[in-house]
Amino acid sequence: MAKITIKNENVTFEMPDNTRLLPYLMSNSAFPGGCEDGSSTMCACVILHGEDNLNAKTQAEITTLANAGLPNSKKNRLACQVIVLKGEIELEY
Ligand code: FES
Repeated sequence: MAKITIKNENVTFEMPDNTRLLPYLMSNSAFPGGCEDGSSTMCACVILHGEDNLNAKTQAEITTLANAGLPNSKKNRLACQVIVLKGEIELEY
């Protein structure tokens, strides 16, 4: 099981390894939903710790973040494109 902390909500929850993050964020916090296909920035978040425990960015994610002018950093992610591989992750949005 992976452990997710949402710093700005002071919420921590567990979720299975190798699983999409967004459904768990939405069911455990006030995190907004959105297009879920990586074409908006509705689900943009900043990974504070544990970015190496996530999948590599998808091409849709890279393109959308670049179009929004956000830095191409492992810490800037679109939650709908994130798969949590393992371990502990801390994020804020
Ligand atoms: S919900 Fe639209 S990019 Fe993630």
